[in-house]
This record gives sequence, structure tokens and C-alpha cells, in this order.
Amino acid sequence: MAAKGGAMASMLVLLLAALLLASASSPAAAAEQGVLRMKPTDSGYRYNHTLAHILVEYASAVYTSDLTSLFTWTCPRCTGHTKGFEVIEVIVDVENCLQAFVGVAPDPRSIIIAFRGTQQHSVSNWIEDLFWKQLDVTYPGMPDAMVHHGFYTAYYNTTLRHEILKSIQWARKTYGKLPINVVGHSMGGALASFCALDLSVKFGSQEVELMTFGQPRVGNPAFAEYFGTQVPRTIRVTHQNDVVPHLPPYYYYLGQWTYHHFAREVWLHQIIDGNVVTRNETVCDDSGEDPTCSRSVYGISVADHLEYYGVTLHSDSRGTCQFVMGTANSVYSYIHEVDGAIILSRYPQEPRALESM
Ligand SMILES: *[C@@H]1O[C@H](CO)[C@@H](O)[C@H](O)[C@H]1NC(C)=O
Ligand SMILES: *[C@@H]1O[C@H](CO)[C@@H](O)[C@H](O)[C@H]1NC(C)=O
Ligand SMILES: *[C@@H]1O[C@H](CO)[C@@H](O)[C@H](O)[C@H]1NC(C)=O
Repeated sequence: MAAKGGAMASMLVLLLAALLLASASSPAAAAEQGVLRMKPTDSGYRYNHTLAHILVEYASAVYTSDLTSLFTWTCPRCTGHTKGFEVIEVIVDVENCLQAFVGVAPDPRSIIIAFRGTQQHSVSNWIEDLFWKQLDVTYPGMPDAMVHHGFYTAYYNTTLRHEILKSIQWARKTYGKLPINVVGHSMGGALASFCALDLSVKFGSQEVELMTFGQPRVGNPAFAEYFGTQVPRTIRVTHQNDVVPHLPPYYYYLGQWTYHHFAREVWLHQIIDGNVVTRNETVCDDSGEDPTCSRSVYGISVADHLEYYGVTLHSDSRGTCQFVMGTANSVYSYIHEVDGAIILSRYPQEPRALESM
């Protein structure tokens, strides 16, 4: 009896310790328990450092508030590796404060879709809110897969999805059957994830690649697993102590009632050895929650969230949801307003049809 009680007590202590450690997202948080072991479905897919350097520039450019210079690809962030990019459509959902573009890139020769992160006045407030996000929507057709309603509807229930699908159809008709790269930073990474999943189901997993920078968690373990099988060509880049990839928190003991990242993380960090600082890019395991990557440090930095590969990733204007647009000699072929959204496009806009996409 006494021995049993003792055993129980020590088990309780262990459990409590585990809970505390896990809650703190500590490096010691159990590596094995509760972490998914996912079968890599595209073991041939590798992290490409050069590609990441190119794609992060698109994730930065989509923050541009001057829509004319964005559409004509003459904005200050529209240089460097992205030269020669042809924008097909810029979508600004004014009501929901969202922005995205679709275009065709010379290298890698592909359709690129980029989503902007939050434009709220204070990034810190947005990050604080992230802590409390609920898993409150069941992903359609996946009874166990839960996601956050806000991220989900920002892609599925706004003008974005409809416009993006239309632009891809037009681009593939005009430029041929190009592969698709979806990118986004921060909340834009969350939207990019839903978009890549949507497009993979629609066009096939081999046609779609996803790369996000500092994205939050978007769904539970069942969702992460489903995501891994549907969008195997996924790289989720995290940077040093960036706080956002740590949110909403992951609690391994909550089973399906916790958020859980999908694979594959690539963790950018510095190793300081005396006076020598080395930049390292760790390609993480296929669990989505590799304890030796960003989870091995505390997520305490907003500064690390706003810069990836030395590229600035935040708004270029001070206001909330601001944008400017040139009116003279219209460089965009078509301007269109629908459901509180402004759309600049290279192809004619039909009155919104009720076709099911
Ligand atoms: C990496 O991406 C760059 C840019 O698209 C490409 O030129 C290069 O061939 C890729 N490398 C590999 C090993 O796939
Ligand atoms: C989608 O948006 C419509 C109109 O804004 C709203 O009535 C509906 O409840 C939304 N659906 C979801 C799943 O949020
Ligand atoms: C540096 O990155 C490599 C490649 O991902 C990894 O194998 C190695 O463990 C990393 N080194 C450190 C000290 O994190």
C-alpha cells in the first residue's frame, strides 16, 4: 500500500514536472511523447537555400502599400532576385485587412502566390492575441482535424480564394502548366498554408510547393498529419527566437486538443563560439515539433520575427490597412471592386459568377 502510494506520488511529481516543462515550451520538453512521427511522403524533396532567398523577397514585397508600384513590380522591395516578375493580380481585401498577389516568376519558372502578414497597428497586440486562439473549426472532410476559425476563414471565406483560383486558371492558360509556389510571412504564412492545401487537392501535390516564414501554428495533430500527406513539398522557416512559431502553444499532453506544427521546419540560428558567430540552418525532423529546432529555445523575440535571411518582413507604412494607388495612366488593365475588396488584374474581370471553383 505504502509502496504503491509512493510510486503514485512520484509519478504525479513526474507528470507535474512534465506539464510545467511543456507549458514553458522548454528545450527539455519531452522529445518523444505526443510528437507525431509522420511518414515522409516526398522524401525526394529537399530544402533549397537559394530558393528560400528568392522566395523570402516575395513574402516581403507583398507588404507594399503602394499598389501601383506593386502591380508594375517597381516597388523598392521588387528588386534583387525577383527581377522580371510579372504580376497577374493584386487583391486587397480592405474589409478584412488582407493582401495577396499572384504572378509569374522567371526563376524558379512558376506561378507565385504571396500573402501579407498582419497590418494591425501593433504587431505585439496581434502576437498576444495568438496565445488564446481556439481550435474551433473542423477541417472539411477530416473529422479529427481542427483548425483556427480566423485563419481558415481569412483564406476560404473572403475574396482571396476566389480571385487566386481565377488567376491561376488564367496564368496556366496563358503561360502553360507552371508549378505553383505559395509563400507568406507570419499570418500570411497561415493563409499560405491553407491556400497550398487547397491547391494541392485541386492540382496535385507535385504541382505545389509551400514556403512560409515565421508562421504560427494553424491546426491540431490530425490536421498536421493530413497536411503532411497532402502538401509534402513544404518548408516552414523559423528564425532564432522568433516568438510567432511558438504560438498558439503546443501542449503534447492534450492529444488532439492542442495546436501542432506540420513539417518540415528549417531553423535559422546563430551559433556563438567566443568571438565567432556562425549562421546555421538546421533542417529539422519530420515530426513538425522537432525539440532540437526552434523549440530548443524560448520564443521571446519580435525582432527575429520581422527579419528572415536579412530581408525585412513587415509593413512599409505606419497606418493600419493603408494602401495608395495611382490614378493616372492606368498601368493595370483592370480595376475591380467586389465585396469590399480591390482587385488589380491583367485580365478582364467578369461580373462575379456563381460557378463553383
Ligand atoms: C535551388 O533553387 C534554385 C532557384 O530556383 C535553382 O536554380 C537550383 O537548381 C535549385 N537547386 C536544387 C539542388 O534543386
Ligand atoms: C462566411 O462569411 C459569411 C458572410 O460574411 C458568413 O455569414 C459566414 O458565417 C462565414 N462562414 C464562416 C465559416 O465563417
Ligand atoms: C547546423 O546545421 C546542420 C545542418 O542542418 C545540422 O546538422 C547541425 O546540427 C547544425 N549545428 C548546430 C550546432 O546546430
